[in-house]
Amino acid sequence: MESGQVRARRALQASRYRQHRAHAGRLDAPAAAAFVKTFVPPTHALRWEPVAEASQVEVRRLRAEDAVQLAACFERCYGSTYTYPEFYDPECIVDRIVEGSLRSAVADAGGGRIVGHIGLTVRHKHAICVEAGNSVVDPAFRGHRLLARLGALLHQLCVDDGFIGYHHYPTTAHPIMQRAAAAVGPEMGLMLAHIPAETSYQEMDVRVRERIAALISYTPLAPAPRREVFAPTRYATLVERLYEQARFPRSLRSASADPKGGSAKVTVARSEHRRSSTITVHQTGDDLDSIVERELAQASLEVLHVDLLMNEPHLDHTIDVLHRQGFVYCGLLPEFLEYDVLRMQRVTRPTANTFRPELATDGGRALLREILADRR
Ligand SMILES: CC(C)(COP(=O)(O)OP(=O)(O)OC[C@H]1O[C@@H](n2cnc3c(N)ncnc32)[C@H](O)[C@@H]1OP(=O)(O)O)[C@@H](O)C(=O)NCCC(=O)NCCS
Repeated sequence: MESGQVRARRALQASRYRQHRAHAGRLDAPAAAAFVKTFVPPTHALRWEPVAEASQVEVRRLRAEDAVQLAACFERCYGSTYTYPEFYDPECIVDRIVEGSLRSAVADAGGGRIVGHIGLTVRHKHAICVEAGNSVVDPAFRGHRLLARLGALLHQLCVDDGFIGYHHYPTTAHPIMQRAAAAVGPEMGLMLAHIPAETSYQEMDVRVRERIAALISYTPLAPAPRREVFAPTRYATLVERLYEQARFPRSLRSASADPKGGSAKVTVARSEHRRSSTITVHQTGDDLDSIVERELAQASLEVLHVDLLMNEPHLDHTIDVLHRQGFVYCGLLPEFLEYDVLRMQRVTRPTANTFRPELATDGGRALLREILADRR
């Protein structure tokens, strides 16, 4: 049961929030973080006293009424530097919970004090795999294995909602998430320079001076359906090994090196905030190289991903074109969209460190070797 004090505090927060939203548009990350600071009363929310026992913390499903406290938790973990501004914006969090695109496990230290979070993001309505991430534990509650408890509930949510597994992106800023991810599935890719340099991990001994990499890992939770995929000659051995490790039954067919002809069908998702773009190729075509060139011409762009569906017979040709444009292997994401996805990457202004991420697992190091060989 909620105490009168907690109810009164929630009502106060809700009314301040409504007043603020009446004046603000959708917020960018620093504005949203500043907003959370003013809107959530600091004495109650910005620094929680740790509970005496971590067992007093309840791990449960995220509810719409947690949105403000969740935003405050992200502020405590990243200051105003988290690169997904929606997590600072309670209204956006509520919208995502209601529409079902965000399903999360949270740690509640009592009275709705949110001190940890891992979320599932549904990217594509027909995908049978989901994306997991946005993992945080409040600095005052770290080291009590809350991450593992959140992870256990996340697995349950994933299975309950009918997904066969999840893709997740452990940061290379520190080894904690890399090791945690390797315990529950293989590394499938490495996104170089994925995390903007401004990202500040609060109360962790992490120095980020330039953009850093994140791994792509997969956690299998239920058997995957059989599929036939076109395996590009360039990555056939790698792809075969990764499918096996991630337990995807796949028959690999040789792809064609001939052009498909016609116009490509793509969608482009650009993030000004992250200075990155993803081009998803639904159908390849003769103009794909000029579409990619146009995107690369964006002055602010630092990273470009091209996602290719593996039911496309002309994959060898497409990969040759991208390779000539400076792209290298990024990751294999089975069942990521309506079909398996092969992701290619190009970092527009690489430094020597771009190709020297701090990797904590053998799987991560093996992928880096593949990418370095692919650059030659
Ligand atoms: C990564 C994170 C979620 C781990 O949560 P957690 O509940 O503390 O995890 P655990 O209790 O399992 O501890 C994990 C490790 O962190 C160490 N740790 C404990 N307190 C810590 C602290 N204050 N700072 C840094 N590391 C700490 C633990 O010793 C443990 O190491 P071990 O496995 O070698 O024993 C949390 O540190 C965090 O929110 N970090 C900032 C955000 C982040 O990096 N998110 C992941 C993005 S992919």
